[in-house]
This record gives sequence, C-alpha cells and structure tokens, in this order.
Amino acid sequence: MKTYIIGNWKMNFTVGESSLFLHKLLQRVRSYRDIEVVVSPSLMALQSLSLQTDRRKIKLATQNFYHRDFGAFTGEVSIAQLRSLVDYAIVGHSERRYIFNESDKDIRAKVAAALRNGLTPILCIGETDSERTFGETADVLRDQLLGGLSEVSAEEVSKCIIAYEPVWAISGHDKAAKVASPLDVKDAFALIRKILKETYGKETAEDTPLLFGGSVKSINAESYLLLEDCNGLLIGGASLIASEFTDIIEIAKRVKDANAQH
Ligand code: PGA
Repeated sequence: MKTYIIGNWKMNFTVGESSLFLHKLLQRVRSYRDIEVVVSPSLMALQSLSLQTDRRKIKLATQNFYHRDFGAFTGEVSIAQLRSLVDYAIVGHSERRYIFNESDKDIRAKVAAALRNGLTPILCIGETDSERTFGETADVLRDQLLGGLSEVSAEEVSKCIIAYEPVWAISGHDKAAKVASPLDVKDAFALIRKILKETYGKETAEDTPLLFGGSVKSINAESYLLLEDCNGLLIGGASLIASEFTDIIEIAKRVKDANAQH
C-alpha cells in the first residue's frame, strides 16, 4: 500500500498565494511511486490549481462539498462539480463537525457522494478531550467510523481512507492542543482495524489505509509513520510551510524504504 502525505491548507492562502505555494512545492517535491502526495487548498483555488499541478507529483483534495449532485441548493458546491478537479475529498473533519455542526447523517451522505462520483473520501474520526477524559474514545471511534461508512457497501470500504484525528491534538483552533503520543495513536489504529475486521472482514480491514493527523510536524512525523498500522499523515499547520511539508515527504520515503528491506 502507498503511504499518503496529505496537506490540509484549511482557510489559508488567497488564490494567488495558493498558486505560488503550489509552484514552490512542485519544484521541491520529488515523486515516488509508493508515496501519494495530496494537498487540499480552499475551494476557490481548486480550479486554477488543478490546471497548474502535475498530478504525478501532487494530487488535490477538496476540503468540503455538498452531498447532492445538482439542484436548488444556494451557495453549495457539489462533488459532481468538483470531480474533474480533485481526486480526494476530506469528510467529517472535526472543524466541520464541531464548528459547522455537521451531523453523522451529513457525513455518511458525503462519503457516499464522493464514492458515487469516483473520488476517494478521507473520513476523519476522533474523540474530543472530554470524551477522552471520560473514557469514551472507543465508543466515539466506533460510532464515527461505522456511522460514516454506513451507506458504503462492504466492497467499497477499502476505497475509503480513514484518518484518526483526535480533536485534542489538532493545532488549528485549539492553541492548547496536545501532541498525541505514538502509543495513543497505536492503540486507536488497532481499535479501528479491529472494528473494520469485525464488520467487513480481514481483507477489507487490511486494505483500508489508516492515516494519523494532529499537530504532525517534521520532528514527530517519523514516530507516527513507524507505527505498523500507519499508512500516512494528514497535516494541517505544517503543510503551510514548504520545507516542513517536503521534509515530511522525505521522512515517509525513508520509512517506506526501511520497511521494504525488512
Ligand atoms: P494540524 O491539523 O496538523 O494543524 O494539527 C491537522 C488537521 O486538522 O487535519
């Protein structure tokens, strides 16, 4: 399986800045067959960046979309309108769940819409700080995982990417974000694989990529990538710094090569 390095730019950069930043990345990123590099700029920049990017090096993801394909939905953009621009779609990010009140129902409809339109959904799941304190992590992960996948057929589950993003570790709007220990992440990954195995079978569980996200930087990327179940990283803040993002890609390649030798 490939290793996925995905940068979520969130609501940063103007269209012009996005283009300059992508230009910088395209000059620096080396393409490797076993590393999939994806960036997710603002919706505004997707059209121009889709023409600018070299998809062999950097593919694009949308940060959001509406689950219906066309119709009277003022102000919305559908995945059917975006499908020629992007390969991936982020769904269920905690900022969408908690700032914009996206429900499990919205999220499962979006996962289904992305698949229906031939895109790979990146389904984000993760517990909040208080859920963690109250020992509810396992229940939350199970609910968000199976809830998000509930409109997906068992055969299609492995076409989704699952990103474990503990809300307490996401740096963006929480200045007090903590850094997750590799042990925390290892336990969560083990649980997610177990739920996938029990629900969809061993093969699907093994074929579904699991990513980690939450305050990932070049100094800690390796500690997560070394985890047996880790198939990549979803990176917010550090993906806005070209040297950080490209360093993480190189670290991922080193870990991949080292694993291949064992
Ligand atoms: P962060 O964001 O890397 O800035 O913590 C991660 C995310 O929200 O996906």
